[in-house]
Amino acid sequence: MTGIKFLSTGVGLPENVLTNADLEKMVETSDQWITERTGIKTRRIASDKQATSDFSIAAARQALSRAGIAPETVDAVVVATCTPDHLMPSVACLVQRALGLKNAFAFDLEAACSGFIFGLACVNGLMRSGAAKTVLLIGADTLSKFTDWTDRGTCVLFGDGAGAALLQASDRDDNLLAVHLGSDGSFTDILNIPGGGSRHPLQRSKNAPFTTGEVAGNFPPYIHMEGKEIFKNAVLRMAEAADSALKKCGKTSDDLRLLIPHQANLRIIDAVAKRMKLGDDKVFRNVQKYGNMSAATTVIALDEAVQGGVVKRGDLVELIAFGGGLTWGAAVLRW
Ligand code: ACO
Repeated sequence: MTGIKFLSTGVGLPENVLTNADLEKMVETSDQWITERTGIKTRRIASDKQATSDFSIAAARQALSRAGIAPETVDAVVVATCTPDHLMPSVACLVQRALGLKNAFAFDLEAACSGFIFGLACVNGLMRSGAAKTVLLIGADTLSKFTDWTDRGTCVLFGDGAGAALLQASDRDDNLLAVHLGSDGSFTDILNIPGGGSRHPLQRSKNAPFTTGEVAGNFPPYIHMEGKEIFKNAVLRMAEAADSALKKCGKTSDDLRLLIPHQANLRIIDAVAKRMKLGDDKVFRNVQKYGNMSAATTVIALDEAVQGGVVKRGDLVELIAFGGGLTWGAAVLRW
């Protein structure tokens, strides 16, 4: 094996669209505030009945169909998510079952919004170790289920969705040129979901042995974020990661056809683009439509850039992301 080939991509999104006008009716906010501070206009939101695996399955089905390969060919499913349907089993096993990927092993990984890029590094390792030849890598999140819909500081920011990429070990092509990853666990307090895990589990009621939906004390199962600190770190870390990954493969930002940054906030994207001295035509933006879809953002943006003809075979593309943990990463692709 000399490299990794991207065979195809696919997208799965909820049908429900939540606009800034809808949010104006829910919390004290305005279209003007949201647009000026974030650039977001609409986002897709899961229905009560939908969960992360639903979007993952749709995205994976599209990627498989576009590549035209049989489900039996897939020998690993990796889902990057911080909002799985259940604590167990993994979303990856649910995707495997739904699509009949009977020759695959399947597992989830968690690196919050940076998950898809961590997943690319993981796929590289699986292929080079000989553990897998054809891998379905999915970035998927349903943050709406972990959002406090009375908190205007966070509820305007997020959307739900999934993106999938089908990757194959290749002796001829090498689409994945370099990956750079980073983390800083000293910032775990500024972006997290405090309750619902084993530290602050759902409370058992006195009368029933199982959960009641109530969560212990001050640890709700909703996103807590210190926006300004996250903003500063996101710009710094994504710009650094972008540079490190380019250096690893002997490239500079001048060589890029397109930078695909994590889509959390238009102002963060603009600040990173300015640091990297990239003009508007070289930076992909779709946060206006979808908000921050966490691990799904970079792969959905890649899919849109490819399907829309912005990226063509042979173009140099860089994905960069930043999220809870803190985690960050960059991947350079020769599409
Ligand atoms: N509508 C109206 N006013 C609001 C809203 C809202 N939706 N939200 C906050 N405000 C108010 C605040 O209460 C505050 O009012 P005050 O001055 O009276 O106290 C004022 O607006 C300013 O609030 P700030 O939080 O200081 O606003 P800021 O300019 O920092 O913008 C934002 C907030 C958009 C969240 C910004 O900090 C940001 O984008 N941070 C990064 C978020 C991010 O990138 N997250 C990605 C990582 S998370 C992940 O990917 C899972």
